[in-house]
Amino acid sequence: MNIILLGPPGAGKGTQAGLLEDKFGLVQLSTGDILRAAVKEGSEVGKMAQDIMSSGKLFPDELMAQILGEHIDQLDADVGIIFDGFPRTQNQAALLDDLLSERGKVLDHVIELSVDEDALVDRITGRYTCGNCNTGYHDRHKLPKVEGVCDVCSKSEFKRRPDDNEETVRTRMAEYRGKTAPILPIYEELKIVSRVDGMGGISEVSDALNAILS
Ligand code: AP5
Ligand code: MG
Repeated sequence: MNIILLGPPGAGKGTQAGLLEDKFGLVQLSTGDILRAAVKEGSEVGKMAQDIMSSGKLFPDELMAQILGEHIDQLDADVGIIFDGFPRTQNQAALLDDLLSERGKVLDHVIELSVDEDALVDRITGRYTCGNCNTGYHDRHKLPKVEGVCDVCSKSEFKRRPDDNEETVRTRMAEYRGKTAPILPIYEELKIVSRVDGMGGISEVSDALNAILS
């Protein structure tokens, strides 16, 4: 099973992809996470991505697809993939088509998490992760069980994304509305699109996704 999770910044793509990995034995490929790892590494790709990401604009399509292809090739050939954050443009949708067909894979579901933009600003500006194991938390919606201590690895170093400020978030949303949402009709024609209300709680959204995929 191969799935695309679509939705504006903060819609919950990463949160839900993590839950789907556990439930269905799928592997999440997040192009945002891939670029952030490159920035951390200080590679040429990372240097290029750093400025683009902090502006909220999109990384170039062809290079993004090439990097994604390299990550697909590191996985077991028959594992199902959750594409989190790719495709984001019509061109990327065509490039994903090529990446999949070259590897004998098909797309089974495209799920859009629909949300209210003002609520998203609250979600994104409150978000942080464990600096050691990357578990996600939120100032208001998902605190660690013991204050200041990661539930998973017990470390106490947390970090926030540099692009999680209101100005950059507004640009990221505009990019989603202008470039990403318009790719949905491509998949609607294939009758593989489902929409889930992303404004419910994390477990409600998860139940809705499970119902579509089971
Ligand atoms: P990327 O990392 O993909 O960011 P994004 O699309 O802006 O989405 P986010 O990761 O911010 O949100 P999410 O939907 O994963 O939400 P999350 O689960 O964390 O991309 C970053 C940048 O990289 C882009 O701007 C671009 O520059 C570049 N890039 C990436 N892919 C690219 C591509 N294909 N082409 C070109 N450029 C690319 O949830 C958010 C918060 O809310 C969390 O704290 C979570 O705990 C909380 N939360 C989640 N669900 C709920 C809920 N139901 N109720 C309450 N709280 C919730
Ligand atoms: Mg994410």
